[in-house]
Parts: sequence; C-alpha cells; structure tokens
Amino acid sequence: MPDPTEPATDPDVPTEAWSGVHRGPLRAGEWVRLVDAKGRRHNFALEPGKRFFSNRGHLEHDEMIGREEGFTVTASSGGEYLVFRPLLSEFVVSMPRGAAVVYPKDAAQIVAQCDVFPGADVVEAGVGSGALTCSLLRAVGPHGSVRSFERREEFADVARRNVEQFFGGEHPAWTLSLGDLAEALPASGLRCDRLILDMLAPWECLDAAADALRPGGIVCAYVATTTQLSRFTETVRVHGGFTEPHAWESLVRDWHVEGLAVRPGHSMIGHTAFLVTARRMAPGERAPRTKRRPAPGAYGPDYTGPRPEGVVVDGGDTGS
Ligand SMILES: C[S@@+](CC[C@H](N)C(=O)[O-])C[C@H]1O[C@@H](n2cnc3c(N)ncnc32)[C@H](O)[C@@H]1O
Repeated sequence: MPDPTEPATDPDVPTEAWSGVHRGPLRAGEWVRLVDAKGRRHNFALEPGKRFFSNRGHLEHDEMIGREEGFTVTASSGGEYLVFRPLLSEFVVSMPRGAAVVYPKDAAQIVAQCDVFPGADVVEAGVGSGALTCSLLRAVGPHGSVRSFERREEFADVARRNVEQFFGGEHPAWTLSLGDLAEALPASGLRCDRLILDMLAPWECLDAAADALRPGGIVCAYVATTTQLSRFTETVRVHGGFTEPHAWESLVRDWHVEGLAVRPGHSMIGHTAFLVTARRMAPGERAPRTKRRPAPGAYGPDYTGPRPEGVVVDGGDTGS
C-alpha cells in the first residue's frame, strides 16, 4: 500500500515527446511562475542559492526547488505567491518579444481549424517572437516538421531563444531560416501540408505558398486589419488554385461567477487579428466559382483591390 502521507512520485513526461512540460518536483534550471494576490505575475528560472525580490519581500529559490508545483510561498515581508510551472499560453504572453505574438486564443484556432496534426509538415513566416512556433511544434510533435522563415535576424534570435527556453533545447522538428518567404521558400524546394502567414503583406507570398503546398493542404493568413483581410482573400480568389477562402475572427469573453453575481467580465481583448484559410486544389484543378452575385457595389468603381475572374458587378461583368 502506498503511504498516503508521502507525495506520489509520478514519472516525468517522456523527454522524446518534446512537450516542454515536466512533472514532479521543481528542479533547478526550470522556469516557475509566481502570482500574487493582485494577479501580478513573475516568471524566472530557479537557481540554487538565488533570491527572488519583489515589493512584498524576498524569497529563496531553494524554498521552491524540490517541491511539487501548486503551492503558496510567503515572502519576507508577508507577500503570498502561488507557484506553478508556466503553461504554454502563459509563457508566450510573458516571454521577451521582438514582434507582436499570435495570442493563445488564435494559436488554438490555427491549430484546430488548419488541422495541424502529429507528423505534419508545416511552414510558417514570419517567426516573430516564436509564439505560434511553440504551438505548431506541440501539434506536429517530434515526427513532423515546422520550417520557420523570418526576414529580420534580430527577431529570429529572439524566437530561437524563446522556443529553446520553452522546449528545454533544440526541438528536433524545428528549423529556422533567415530570408523573405517569397524568395526563400521556392529556393528551399520544401513541400508542406500547412502554411501559416503572419506578416504585413501575406498576399506577396501566396504564389510561393501555392507552389509549396501539397494538394489538400491549407494556407492560413493571420492579419490585423480589414484592408489586409480583403487583399489576401481576393488574392486567393484571383490565384484560382484554392477553394473559396474562409475568413473569421474569434472573440473570447471571461465571465465573473460568484454566488448570484454571474455576468460577463467588464473587460475583454476586443481585437487581435483576423484569420483566413483556403485549401489547395490539385495541380491544374480549379474550385467551382461561387454562383452568388457579389453584394451591390462590392467590386464597384471604388474597389481597387484584386478582381476575381468573372465577378459580376452592378450593370456588367468586369472579369475576364
Ligand atoms: C507579427 S510578427 C510574427 C509573430 C509570430 N507569428 C509569433 O507568434 O511570435 C511578423 C513577422 O513577420 C516577419 N516578416 C514579414 N514579412 C515577411 C516575409 N515576407 N518573409 C519572412 N518574414 C517576414 C517580420 O519581420 C515579423 O517578424
């Protein structure tokens, strides 16, 4: 019979899973996340003999090393902190940033709606701070591949540090290349199942994406503004080698639940970015065009973007 007064000793998550997660007692070198009563967060790596200082006093790292996560510690001036290992969703919003990150709610949408599966070959650009990269690597696992492209060296350096910190080393499925995707992807000769574009002008990379994607593969753009959303979507239509693009965004609202006071939270992240996906047709195949007439004025004289072939506008057909 196990002794109920002794803590259970669970085996650690297998190293070869490359999850970035550990079980069991906290070890020296691991990152922890301390949260105080006001929700203020502090993330740091545990080091024997080191002290953590805050405005609520100090704490010895040695008090935390060797304990099972999920405990409360009290600093020298009485401040209480909850101690856990950071989750991936917590890590990416607190890690050092070179560029804006894909928020966890959107990374979850990308992984689910783009059906990123274990063993998949994924290409992404730009790598930015490496936030989405971590979710993609988690989803493809060690038997898939994530090929990240970034045109700014300083961002690539930040991303490399973040991804290696999260996974505790060089993930075997990851390669990071410097360069503009529009040129670097064709030059690489890579083929992929999923291609994620998080950049200012994803339409400039669509031809390269189409050539690299396998039939049935998915292209996905993550764009912050409606003008980018429109231009990318219309460029996909004009290309012709994809299914009708699907555009959406996700809104997440917290709720306050306390006795009879059950109501939406007062604040929410109102806007992060829009997502657009489309599936790659087989070579030479075209998806049937939508039979629906565009909304009145949709492609009228004020519209200056890419014009899908054969679109019917008020009073005539502007397409070829
Ligand atoms: C918003 S950030 C990407 C954030 C990243 N997905 C994350 O979750 O941390 C956009 C990045 O795309 C890079 N970029 C823009 N156009 C690019 C291109 N054509 N090829 C490669 N990288 C590009 C920029 O340098 C920038 O680092």
